[in-house]
Amino acid sequence: MHNFNSGPSILPQEVLEQAAEAVINFNGTGLSILEIGHRTAWFGDVISEARSLVKELMQLGDGHEVLFLHGGATTQFMQVPMNLLDADKTAAYIDNGIWGSKAIKEAKLFGNVDVVSSTKDKNHSYIAKNFTVPANAKYLHYTTNNTVEGTEWHQIPETNVPLVADMSSDIFSRALDFSKFALIYAGAQKNMGAAGVTLVVVRKDILGKVKRAIPPIMDYRTHIEAGSLLNTPPVFAVFVSMLTLRWIKKEGGLAEMEKRSKARAELFYNTLDSLPVFTPLVAKEDRSLMNATFTIKDAQLEKEFLDMCKERGMVGVKGHRSVGGLRVSMYNALPLSSVEAICDLMKEFNEKHVEEVVS
Ligand SMILES: Cc1ncc(COP(=O)(O)O)c(C=O)c1O
Repeated sequence: MHNFNSGPSILPQEVLEQAAEAVINFNGTGLSILEIGHRTAWFGDVISEARSLVKELMQLGDGHEVLFLHGGATTQFMQVPMNLLDADKTAAYIDNGIWGSKAIKEAKLFGNVDVVSSTKDKNHSYIAKNFTVPANAKYLHYTTNNTVEGTEWHQIPETNVPLVADMSSDIFSRALDFSKFALIYAGAQKNMGAAGVTLVVVRKDILGKVKRAIPPIMDYRTHIEAGSLLNTPPVFAVFVSMLTLRWIKKEGGLAEMEKRSKARAELFYNTLDSLPVFTPLVAKEDRSLMNATFTIKDAQLEKEFLDMCKERGMVGVKGHRSVGGLRVSMYNALPLSSVEAICDLMKEFNEKHVEEVVS
C-alpha cells in the first residue's frame, strides 16, 4: 500500500515490527507491553528514553520539560490558555486554518484573544507573514503546519512574547531552533507515533503565573512533578513514540528528515505544477512539505481519480471533509517511491483528460 493518510498515518516498517513483537513479548520479559504497569522500571526506561530523545532531537536544555499527555492536540487548545492566560489578560493568535480557529475559540473561554493575523479572506490558502503582536500579549499562538489547508510556516514568526505552537502535523519533519518556543504541542499520530498520546514541550519559567485554580490533571506543573505519570499514561502509544524517535535519530535526525521532506515535496509539487488537469490550492512559497492540497479542474473527474488511486493501493488521497478536493500527506516514514507512484498516476490521468479539461 501507498499510505497518504493525514493522520493516523504511515509509520516506519521497523517500528511496526518492533511494536508488534512487544505486544507479544516486551523486551524478553514474557509479558506484553499492554500488560506491564506504568510504574514499573520497564516502562520507566521507555518514557525516560522517549523524553531524552525529544530533548536531543530538539537540542533543548534544562529550561524545557517534555510531557506525554492524554487528550490529543484538541485538549491543548484549552489547556494552553487555562495555564497561561488570566481572564483579564490578552493572548495573540494567528488564524491560518481550521485547527488554529478551533484553538482561538477555546482560548476565548479563558481570556481575551487578539487575532493578529487571519487568512480567512482567501480560504487560508497562504500565510500572512506581517502582523503586529501587542507587547502585553501573554503569548502568541500559531499552527506551524495547516494539515487541512496545506500551508506551512517556513520561518519562525518574530515576536517578543512567548511563542506557542501547535506542531501536530510537522513535528520532527525538519530542523528548527526549538529554543525559540515557550510551548510546543503535537498529537503523536502523524510523525511521532500512534494515536493516543500528545507531546508537550514547555519552558518551565512561563508556568505558575495565572491566578485561577487549575485542576491537577490540567496543570502542566503537576505533570512535570509527576514525570508524566500523574495517572496512567497511554503506555503503548508512548512506547511507539519512543520507537519512532529512535528511528528518527538512527536515520540521521531532523536534518535528514528535512532533506527527505523536501525531496518528496519537490517531486510532488513539480509534477502537480506541470499537469494542466490539476490545480494546486496554495500559494507556492507557503506550500506544506507534509500535506499537499489540490483539485481536479473538472470536479466530476475526482471520483475516477480516487478510484484509480484505490486500484493501485493508494490510500488517503481524499481531501478533508470540510474542504473537499484532494490531499496527499507525505510524512516522515513515506518513501520517495510512494510519491513517484502517485506522480506517475497523475501524469497518466492528465494524459487521459487533458484535452477535454483544457479545451
Ligand atoms: C494541526 C492540527 N492541530 C490539531 C489537531 C487535532 O489533533 P487531535 O485529534 O490529536 O486532537 C490536528 C489533527 O489532525 C492537526 O492536524
